Amino acid sequence: MGIFINENNLEFHLQNDKVSYILKVDSFTRELQSVYFGNRIHHRDSYEDLSEKTERPSTTSPIKGDHRNSMEFLRREYPDFGHGDFRTSSYEIVSSKAHTLSGMKYEKYECFKGRDRVFGMPHVRIGSEEEAETLIIHLYDSFLQIRMKIFYLLLEDYSAIVRKVSFENISNEPVKASKLMSFSIDLPSASYDLMFLKGAWSRERHVERVPLHKGIQSIGSTRGSSSHTFNPFVALLDKKTTEHQGEVYGFSLIYSGNFLALAEVDNFDITRVMMGIHPQGFSWVLKEGEVFYTPEALLVYSNEGLNGLSQEYHKIIERHIILEKYRNDVRPVLINNWEATYFNFDEDTMLTIASEARNLGFDLFVLDDGWFGKRNDDKTSLSEWTPNYDKLPNGISGLSKKVVDLGIQFGLWFEPEMVSEDTRLYNENPDFVLGHFNYPKSHGRNQFVLDFSNEAVVNEIFERMKRILNDSSVSYVKWDMNRSITEAYSQSLSKEHQGEFYHRYILGVYKLYEMLTNAFPHILFESCAGGGGRFDLGLLYYAPQTWTSDDTDAWERVKIQYGTSMIYPIKSMGSHVSAVPNHQVGRNTSLKMRHDTAIFGTYGYELDITTLSDEEKIEVRNNIEFFKTYQNLIHHGKFYRLLSPFDGEAASYMVISECQSKALVYYSHGLQVPNAPLSNLKLRGLDPAKKYHIHGAKSSHHGDELMNLGVLFTESYFEKDFIDNFLKPGDFKSLILEITEIK
Ligand code: GLA
Repeated sequence: MGIFINENNLEFHLQNDKVSYILKVDSFTRELQSVYFGNRIHHRDSYEDLSEKTERPSTTSPIKGDHRNSMEFLRREYPDFGHGDFRTSSYEIVSSKAHTLSGMKYEKYECFKGRDRVFGMPHVRIGSEEEAETLIIHLYDSFLQIRMKIFYLLLEDYSAIVRKVSFENISNEPVKASKLMSFSIDLPSASYDLMFLKGAWSRERHVERVPLHKGIQSIGSTRGSSSHTFNPFVALLDKKTTEHQGEVYGFSLIYSGNFLALAEVDNFDITRVMMGIHPQGFSWVLKEGEVFYTPEALLVYSNEGLNGLSQEYHKIIERHIILEKYRNDVRPVLINNWEATYFNFDEDTMLTIASEARNLGFDLFVLDDGWFGKRNDDKTSLSEWTPNYDKLPNGISGLSKKVVDLGIQFGLWFEPEMVSEDTRLYNENPDFVLGHFNYPKSHGRNQFVLDFSNEAVVNEIFERMKRILNDSSVSYVKWDMNRSITEAYSQSLSKEHQGEFYHRYILGVYKLYEMLTNAFPHILFESCAGGGGRFDLGLLYYAPQTWTSDDTDAWERVKIQYGTSMIYPIKSMGSHVSAVPNHQVGRNTSLKMRHDTAIFGTYGYELDITTLSDEEKIEVRNNIEFFKTYQNLIHHGKFYRLLSPFDGEAASYMVISECQSKALVYYSHGLQVPNAPLSNLKLRGLDPAKKYHIHGAKSSHHGDELMNLGVLFTESYFEKDFIDNFLKPGDFKSLILEITEIK
């Protein structure tokens, strides 16, 4: 790994065994240009000949008589607007001296082992200085007296570059930034498809792939959270790229608030990609001496298709985003009472469920919404984090201790960022509630948003949560967030600073996470936002698992988890078996299919186990045992997607151990295809030379056969029992193949 610098022509080549990223300072304009991002290439002394400078009529140029230096078609690394580049700019600074004009020129660079220190924001963690190298390019506008630093972090083992930008005002008057993206890059082709994860509540992160066309395509969120609607991740794929072959670039933001991801194809077939805080409603005032840091963006390259990209993302997230102590830990199998009881419970019902859960092999009992204030429905009591003594006469302290005495851990639900209208906080501290006195506040699930941009609010909520957590035996917290932000007006910010609200809000969320995780290091946090409305790298930095979706129907979940796996590791996806008919879609699926689907995640249950029949209880106990047998493989194995539920009626994926000796394959279908064609499922990642046995199959097969010819779903291939159980016609069926190497 290394950062090569051609000092003469100021070219910077970040290179490791997998990837090369090259940028350079233009000798005429002294600004930064994109040269290359992709497969590792050899370093050489000059990349001058790669410059696409050509004389183009009818363009503008900063240099007299020289249209080869037009900003209109040069590939730029962090473009401004106003000097002849008519494409989307990556930043905009408004000053009293030059309005929106600026001219950032190369000043110097810094290069060092390790990475810069970051405070208050989630970022790529490194264990030792040897794991990464940093390049910082300093640009300076001597008239505005603003310094911009463009950060590049090269990770030793991954085909990834981490980027962000900082702005420092060194003049003696304030300036206002109205747009500060985390990165921008110009790629030398327009022949890409754009892939992104789209959705809504209860159908998050469905995969969409569309061709890029001339002009701008973008996704984003202005809801105050990364959102159910789009995820802060996009990919650009070569048109021929598939799951397992071809070039693909992934771009994601380590951030949980409003974001914009944009791809623009210009008239010369250059594709500009950028990502950052959404400019809608954003502005930031930089006073003399102040610095602003954008969120970090993770740029990942793969030449092994989408699946290769996902594997790279999974590894980076596991090793460089999630807290180290969660890297190899064994996550608890949990039972959550939400869909079992909703708000209707008391201490006895909770203890009965917890005790049954303990007998069935669960590790953790989670008490969801409804345990505090007068909360018997969703209209009341948010922010009052004191027990509802009508339901729980011994409080959370008493209940949690009784649960722990049963031999099972205790977890608790909070929604820290929210407040209900009937609470003391709402009525006595109206300035703690987001909104403007002149406009009615929009309702969202009967609740309002606390102003987390105000430090006093964050501290107050910390104290309230701390009291209850100190007082009880809690080893898991589910942190929920159930509405989008509207009327984003903070009473703690002066009028010039209102544009800072959304970003300051999310910094407040991070701050509370930091305070809580520091104060209670033994507590495992699971983030949640009305299901999967804030599944992003920002929150995974603090909470290593996220509730993937409120939709727990097995077939819907397959799609959601399949899409989520594009970037996020299996071990980060909260996944539960719930009751049928399913509460979200009314569908009936077998306990087996619900289990098979939920094991590719953190695994838990969310139904009233006390009402299950004896046979079902035995099945649940066996299911938990099965999961625990394979938990290490599922959570730490290499993950491959095999069949997409977005392409047809079947879905399949698998995990395989590092030594290629054990694999677990998931397969399911939605509606039964009549007189279905013969199915041969081609596996991935096996050792071609090794011989494997599939549990329930009549014979054994070499890895090369299983990968090239596939597994046949026929009677000659499998034992009769296997066929009877899994392959008789029917809608919504699943199977798990357990594969072991034969020595
Ligand atoms: C959200 C969550 C659910 C549950 C409820 C409780 O919808 O996603 O899992 O916790 O809130 O109100």
